[in-house]
Amino acid sequence: MTHTPSTHARTADTIAPTPVPVAANASTPGPGSLRARDVGKTVALPDSALTILDAINLDIAAGERVAIVGESGSGKTTLLSLLAGLDLPSRGEVWLDGAPIHATSEDTRAALRARAVGFVFQNFQLMPAMSALDNVALPLELRGESGGAAARALLEKVGLGQRLHHLPRQLSGGEQQRVAIARAFATRPRILFADEPTGNLDRKTGLAIEDLLFGMDDARATTVVVVTHDERLAARCDRLLRLDAGRLLP
Ligand SMILES: Nc1ncnc2c1ncn2[C@@H]1O[C@H](COP(=O)(O)OP(=O)(O)OP(=O)(O)O)[C@@H](O)[C@H]1O
Ligand SMILES: [Mg+2]
Repeated sequence: MTHTPSTHARTADTIAPTPVPVAANASTPGPGSLRARDVGKTVALPDSALTILDAINLDIAAGERVAIVGESGSGKTTLLSLLAGLDLPSRGEVWLDGAPIHATSEDTRAALRARAVGFVFQNFQLMPAMSALDNVALPLELRGESGGAAARALLEKVGLGQRLHHLPRQLSGGEQQRVAIARAFATRPRILFADEPTGNLDRKTGLAIEDLLFGMDDARATTVVVVTHDERLAARCDRLLRLDAGRLLP
């Protein structure tokens, strides 16, 4: 087999090594990975500046499952928002799915999120006037794809096949959380973020949500970053990151 500079090994059946581009080396972040370099977040208060995060350095490899733990107010949600490209750092670099989001426009970040990221919010953030089915189909339809059949299959997978046409307010908390998880997986994201996915749930429902979070992608290696107070959920991850007053503990 011969190589030409324009040939990139993107297909699974390509065995020969890809010619290495000049800028690439072992430390270049790739698809599915996350990187933070000297990241800080400072917000302006009326008469002072509040540093919420400081000197954050981390690397999360594609397919890794990482828990972020720490006391209330230690900066977990803020860090998750920065890693997911929902918010920008005050200083430092954040690489999401191989892209330097500290140096990109909001439009580029939005496109990157739509392509690569699933996010399960602490308070679900479902669209209140839309059925469970429409909530799950929405991210696909925003990309111009028809989402109905995929949304139905996902809701069946999370055990809500009999609740397709319920509005969020007609669902229990655990059911809403399951819709939020189905929605987060709808676009088959390479990286899934979940903020306290089992908070406010009873133990049995929490366990079911955990199983879904880790079991939705049997065939795929989704990177999972989960903020949690739940020691049991944290223990199921490959690695634990501990935040203390805005800094990562070694
Ligand atoms: N936009 C903001 N303006 C001012 N202060 C903020 C802002 N966002 C977060 N904070 C403060 O930063 C700190 C970290 O907030 P964050 O929500 O990241 O904490 P957390 O670790 O997720 O806490 P919890 O476990 O209670 O959810 C808190 O003290 C919060 O009050
Ligand atoms: Mg939080």
